[in-house]
Amino acid sequence: MTRHGRQQFFVAGEGVLSPDTAARSAASDDAMSPTPRLSEADELRQFRFSRIGPQGAPTSAELMSAVSEAITAVAPDSDGDIPAGFTYLGQFVDHDLTMDKTQAALGSEVTVDELIQGRSPALDLDSLYGRGPADEPHFYTDGLHLKMGRTGALDGFLPAFDGHDLPREPQQRLALIPDHRNDENLAVAQTHLAFIRFHNRVVDTIAPGPVATMFDAARERVVKHYQWMLRQDYLPRIVDPGIVEDVFANGRTLFETSPAPGDSPTMPIEFSVAAFRLGHSMIRDTYSWNRFFDNGSAFLSLLFGFSGTSGDLSAADPLPSNWIADFRRLYDFAEAGRPDLVVAPGKFNRARTIDTRLTDPLATLPAGSFGPPDAQFPPLHANLAFRNLIRGSMVKLASGQQMATLTGVTELTEDEVITGSGGVDFAGLSANLRTELSANTPLWPYILREAELNGGRLTGVGGRIVAEVFHRAMEGSAHSIVRDPHWRPDLGPNAFTFRMVDLLLFAFEGRSDLLNPLGDEPEKQLEIVELSRGDDGPFVRILQHLLRARRFDLFVDGDFGPITEQAVRRFQGNQGITIDGIVGPVTWSRLFTTVRRGDVGEAVKGVQVRMNLRQADPIDVDGDFGPITEQAVREFQISEGVEVDGVVGPITWRRCVSEPA
Ligand code: HEM
Repeated sequence: MTRHGRQQFFVAGEGVLSPDTAARSAASDDAMSPTPRLSEADELRQFRFSRIGPQGAPTSAELMSAVSEAITAVAPDSDGDIPAGFTYLGQFVDHDLTMDKTQAALGSEVTVDELIQGRSPALDLDSLYGRGPADEPHFYTDGLHLKMGRTGALDGFLPAFDGHDLPREPQQRLALIPDHRNDENLAVAQTHLAFIRFHNRVVDTIAPGPVATMFDAARERVVKHYQWMLRQDYLPRIVDPGIVEDVFANGRTLFETSPAPGDSPTMPIEFSVAAFRLGHSMIRDTYSWNRFFDNGSAFLSLLFGFSGTSGDLSAADPLPSNWIADFRRLYDFAEAGRPDLVVAPGKFNRARTIDTRLTDPLATLPAGSFGPPDAQFPPLHANLAFRNLIRGSMVKLASGQQMATLTGVTELTEDEVITGSGGVDFAGLSANLRTELSANTPLWPYILREAELNGGRLTGVGGRIVAEVFHRAMEGSAHSIVRDPHWRPDLGPNAFTFRMVDLLLFAFEGRSDLLNPLGDEPEKQLEIVELSRGDDGPFVRILQHLLRARRFDLFVDGDFGPITEQAVRRFQGNQGITIDGIVGPVTWSRLFTTVRRGDVGEAVKGVQVRMNLRQADPIDVDGDFGPITEQAVREFQISEGVEVDGVVGPITWRRCVSEPA
């Protein structure tokens, strides 16, 4: 089965670097020698890696363990500004770049040119098209349109939805798509589905003619729009836009700078083994996926479970309808001027900041995601950070410092490498390991650190590698916006704009019932609690704390008696609002006092009383807004579908004193 990741690296001019050497490299320094050279035919069949930088020194086993454990030790909770859909667009792109056609090519009558092309990284969507309808008709319905699948109905609850799952066929264990890695988790699978829809809609715009001509015209239009979207929308989100501009305006300075016309691109190991693994840092542990799996209840493990490759979806057991993606929660359609497709902030998913931290489920990957599901392995081998580091050591990847020298960018200082800015603090490592790390930083964490210090966007070494490899992979594609600089998109709002939201709008016909077929939960009708003399209970306690915060001297006993009423009347008088002793929306809103982490006092106690109404484990009502109170507030905000910032401002306060109507 094809995995997301590979066991062997054929590096042009160096031969094959294989996994056995990787295992040994953790223990010994000289275990990295390549295995013997392959025959010419076998070489052609190998995916063609290359090396931009010099060879680096191997990383010690102790450092790899310590760094990977530190990277996955604390679950990141800081969201960046990139919508979470782009994480899985990145994974989809990775699979497009590293599409493995060995199986298709072996033994079949493929020309050497095709073989080399098939082994070459290009942004040409071969993971969507395979080798095209002539060679692989089973992916297509009529030689033109790609097949789509139907979700599974849930009896008496939800119908089956056509065109919302990947195509799956009886007798086939895996989805009917060219690259099964795109069914590794539900988020990348639904991304693949969006591209199937995009292609199918584009086909319908092509003038009738011979089928093969129509297909070629559709593919060219799709691929060029895809490349435009990556260059205009995806790349500047993950890479410093200045670097992207420079590379696309002035050309490459680092990688395959002047290839002969027709030369196939190669895949630099610095990109594959380090820089583009940046996406691992964007992965969240929970998603607000759709109206059924809301408020962070779609755990990463479930997204794996509802897939064909890591889980066991099949034709007999397709994606259940209640797991169809709500694309409005993954991409921000406000960018396309579609406020009708915008969800409340608490429902929207943002990728984790690109920094040196990985979400903790990635420390314990399911065996099936990197090898046979029943394989036995040391626990550290299931840690994705460790796998990334050992691959780097296995191919003798240059260190961050070596690459900084090569690219002529400013090297990170020792303090930047060790302490960083809000990511992992390596100060706890032993002095020896700190010395090794700061002198010879493995490229992957080095690049993440650069991004962390740059507000969550790749820059320096990482930025240049990623921008240049994308540029080359577009240049080397059969259809290329780099080689055809006069081409302009015509499926977006104007001749210069084509973003992922435009692609989705075209693919899903701009329709809310296709971008989110499951619809929305009926709006929860909330009413603010009204309090007056004779009432009692926790809301009265909250009121009394808020009055005490305004320096009214009264006991917090939860009873709305004469003293509380008198305080309310005096407060209303001070505020110049109706003096009736009744606490309704206006009086409440005047009492709300914004509190956040670090604050102390009566208003904080009011928040703590409210949080305890839903805490399984009550928190102390001590008036001290510390991390536990903040966590409780964040969970409350998630459950209320309001912005999750841990701060109790007017909107959160209003939710605190409201009940279902
Ligand atoms: C839930 C999401 C993901 C999981 C579980 C995952 C897991 C993995 C695993 C297990 C490997 C192989 C590690 C090894 O043994 O070398 C790998 C490789 C890789 N991953 Fe991911 N990954 C995910 C998302 C992403 C994303 C979002 C990106 C980029 C934006 C990315 C980029 C890469 C790259 C470039 C490689 C190596 C190249 C290859 O595909 O062969 N991954 N990933």
